[in-house]
Amino acid sequence: MKLSSLSIIIGLAVQLALAAPEIKPRRTRSLLINPDAQPDLPRPQNAQRVSALSAATSLNLDDIQGDILIGMKKNKEMFFFFSIQDATAFKSKLASDIQALVTTTNQLLSVNTQPTTAVNIAFSNSGLKALGVNDNLGDSDFASGQFADASNLGDPGTSDWVSGFAGTGVHGVFLLASDTVENINDELANIQRILGDSISELHRLDGAARPGDQEGHEHFGYMDGISQPAVDGFTQNSLPGQVLLPAGKFIVGADGDSGSRPSWATGGSFLAFRQMQQKVPEFNKYVQDHALNVPELSVEENTDLFGARLIGRWKSGAPIDLAPLHDDPALAADNTRNNDFTFDHPEVPDFNIRTNQTNCPFRQISRSHCTTQKAHIRKTRPRADFGTEEQNHHIIRAGIPYGPEVTDDEHSSNKSSTDPSLERGLAFVAYQSSIANGFKFMQRIWVNNANFFISSTGVDPIIGREQSSAADAPRDITGTDPLDATRSFTLDIDFVVSRGGEYFFSPPISALAGALAA
Ligand code: HEM
Ligand SMILES: *[C@@H]1O[C@H](CO)[C@@H](O)[C@H](O)[C@H]1NC(C)=O
Ligand SMILES: *[C@@H]1O[C@H](CO)[C@@H](O)[C@H](O)[C@H]1NC(C)=O
Repeated sequence: MKLSSLSIIIGLAVQLALAAPEIKPRRTRSLLINPDAQPDLPRPQNAQRVSALSAATSLNLDDIQGDILIGMKKNKEMFFFFSIQDATAFKSKLASDIQALVTTTNQLLSVNTQPTTAVNIAFSNSGLKALGVNDNLGDSDFASGQFADASNLGDPGTSDWVSGFAGTGVHGVFLLASDTVENINDELANIQRILGDSISELHRLDGAARPGDQEGHEHFGYMDGISQPAVDGFTQNSLPGQVLLPAGKFIVGADGDSGSRPSWATGGSFLAFRQMQQKVPEFNKYVQDHALNVPELSVEENTDLFGARLIGRWKSGAPIDLAPLHDDPALAADNTRNNDFTFDHPEVPDFNIRTNQTNCPFRQISRSHCTTQKAHIRKTRPRADFGTEEQNHHIIRAGIPYGPEVTDDEHSSNKSSTDPSLERGLAFVAYQSSIANGFKFMQRIWVNNANFFISSTGVDPIIGREQSSAADAPRDITGTDPLDATRSFTLDIDFVVSRGGEYFFSPPISALAGALAA
């Protein structure tokens, strides 16, 4: 071989070797789902460019972890809860190999910058303490942990809590998201190889979008993730009916966050995690047994209507405030219309938002001993019930269903299996800059409060429980039958059971690189 051709070959090899990092496998399809009913993510070139509210400092989307702003769009996601065994070893890996794996917001916005598996990490207060980080993050609920908060959240004790969540033993959580379980398991193995014995596993939960046409729907069957706040400086255009809020309501240190925080925390967010088991066959039977009797509707439509009155949306996602008696799949799939309602109807002469529940239930007409109801979405976002929309109690929901589909046995027996591998529900994730104003406020002051927003409006029929009530304590509801708002039904089982959770802080990536140092 001539020297010149050898050098060409060597030259090519060198070029290939140099080029190798550039040609690492790129994704050809997104690791996220994007059902029509949900708001789209901003295009990468447009995110971060515009602030509709002020000319305040822009968000650093290369520093904010990817999970926070993207909503309920994960295809598959594993939550891996761990405790730190060797703080020194863990900290040095966190600052090097681990932070390099953590996925930014910008990376998730376009398919060709997405990693094979997105990696996010968040710490509990006890986790930060274990790492020697004693700064006050300015959130007292985070500082106390969720176990101490169980009764405030309405949990009937903690005997149903996953053992790992009982106490303050969970130091952190990895959130691994991809389009296949194999990718996620590979990434977990990689992380465990990097961290070795410096962490140990306390609990894991495998989330996945439901199969086929149920993609984006939670386990009771309702499309989820439709109504999310628009985040100033991130969301490109707020959709009709979306509330536009300063980024500081969700991102620590951003414009609109009034908390006092260490500077390294800027760009982080508090993550409230709850493992909420759903008793799906029991819910289905209850709804079936309580079909309404609106004359022009079939039995099936009357069944669906009863369920829709509990949630505030049809299974398709169409809001009952705009589609009171019939589902409207076209409305559901149109994200410019499916969130464009307030519960008020100025177009209807003499419509009184405080008395008329033809469209969406909210209160009982005559109170006896019972509590009554208000649809889940009206409890968690009252919209015009306050006159104008309030700005202080919003969350970004970023959860995902977990557990398998209902089996034939469960379906035919109308009972959830007691086999732990068949447990299913919602891996609930809420991001906010203040847990007290976000998730906890919603749960305590609205959902579990029978007197919000007018006295005796009742607890949330899906997730509400009056504080200190026993598990499965009967809850009577009225307002569910549009023909007779005084008609009462007794919810005799908790369709949603809290299995506990923890409060975390999802730090900016720069703080991971600096191993959370001041
Ligand atoms: C297993 C438990 C839960 C189920 C099955 C569930 C189901 C749903 C469904 C089907 C929707 C309508 C879809 C949408 O508007 O995006 C919704 C909306 C919502 N949920 Fe839940 N949810 C659960 C737990 C919670 C919890 C614990 C909270 C907070 C305390 C919460 C807060 C919200 C909020 C804020 C909305 C949007 C309301 C709006 O903006 O109109 N949910 N949920
Ligand atoms: C309640 O609102 C519906 C429309 O949603 C309207 O048809 C009805 O007349 C209203 N009822 C009263 C008493 O105003
Ligand atoms: C399940 O519930 C349905 C609806 O109430 C009922 O028709 C059926 O008989 C129930 N099956 C069993 C095994 O209880």
